[in-house]
Amino acid sequence: MLQLPEKYSNVGTTIFTVMSALAQKYSAINLSQGFPDFGVDPNLGNLLLEASEQGFNQYAPMAGLLSLRQEIARHLFESQNVQVNADTEITITPGATYAIYTAFAAVLQPGDEVIVFEPAYDSYIPNIEMNGAKAITITLSAPSFSIDWNQVKDRINTKTKAIILTTPHNPTGTILSQQDWDLLAEIVRDTQIVILSDEVYEQLVYDGKKHISILRHPELRLRSFVLYSFGKALHITGWKVGYCIASPTLTEAFRKIHQFLSFSVNTPAQYALSKYLQLPLHQPVSVFMQKKRDLFLSILKDTPFTIYEPSAGSYFQLAGYDQISSLPEHEFAVWLTKHYGVATIPLSAFYRDKKENKLIRFCFAKKEETLRSAAIQLQKL
Ligand SMILES: Cc1ncc(COP(=O)(O)O)c(C=O)c1O
Repeated sequence: MLQLPEKYSNVGTTIFTVMSALAQKYSAINLSQGFPDFGVDPNLGNLLLEASEQGFNQYAPMAGLLSLRQEIARHLFESQNVQVNADTEITITPGATYAIYTAFAAVLQPGDEVIVFEPAYDSYIPNIEMNGAKAITITLSAPSFSIDWNQVKDRINTKTKAIILTTPHNPTGTILSQQDWDLLAEIVRDTQIVILSDEVYEQLVYDGKKHISILRHPELRLRSFVLYSFGKALHITGWKVGYCIASPTLTEAFRKIHQFLSFSVNTPAQYALSKYLQLPLHQPVSVFMQKKRDLFLSILKDTPFTIYEPSAGSYFQLAGYDQISSLPEHEFAVWLTKHYGVATIPLSAFYRDKKENKLIRFCFAKKEETLRSAAIQLQKL
């Protein structure tokens, strides 16, 4: 019998796998995991075929295809009015999850502390701990889930090496403001703290609100890794292509790890993305996705679910169920899947201590027919 060392053995199967499996078992509509169920733009699919035909089948450069990095720089200039150097500040990665791990690996040493706001995307804490550091959690509470920056100040000490933030936020759908960035800048000004800003939902912001990247803050930008995902921006989560923007110094540290983890990223996908980003855009993705969010909100209006805040960004909408049941969140999500055929994610899954808010998370990045089928089920409640 092989004796393996204990490596992250306290983690079971993730809630996303559990709920998707349950959805399958009960033939439920899956509004749990954050992935679209609609097809990709055929132009993008065709470019993937073209890439292979054109001979883009071997390793890409370690930092990524230059043509793709140039398109990303153009996009950031147009959307955020920031200049990013394609050579020294952009690295293409196999998705954002990988980029988060790599950024942590580049800066953390055993004994370091990292501040994480909960509810949190599930890879953050494991990625910190896999790098020998300790996650210091700060709890954000319903309904606003806003950050109390005084609390952050109190939790910082000489061991604090990094802070990770998410905007737009999964699972709450909130976004950070310029004032949040200004307050953060004041707190970290005389420290060595590095910021990881997870901005994978940057293009999915609704109601005329604007995504404000940390890159727009000249002071914070110098100490930040900013992580993005084409999976979320172009509805291609299975392609697993993302990127990391950071200052030349941080990028150098990032690439030292990246070159020995994956070295490079799927070349045909990079070719297709670089060509696709040069095509004229028909409709901003936020307009496309807001229609889905609005449809979903109108569906929930005819159910006993409570909406505290419409999602300001991301794929997700939180909803309260205290008019329906007194079950804890996990049990309620299982009950809803089994008896009403709609799978969701309990918000408690995003807190290490499984904090209860009596809220569940719906993913509305689905075909209209999927959302309408879910409506029929939920309106029976
Ligand atoms: C906040 C957040 N960051 C990162 C990711 C992962 O992105 P990728 O699929 O590119 O690894 C997700 C996916 O759900 C997410 O919600």
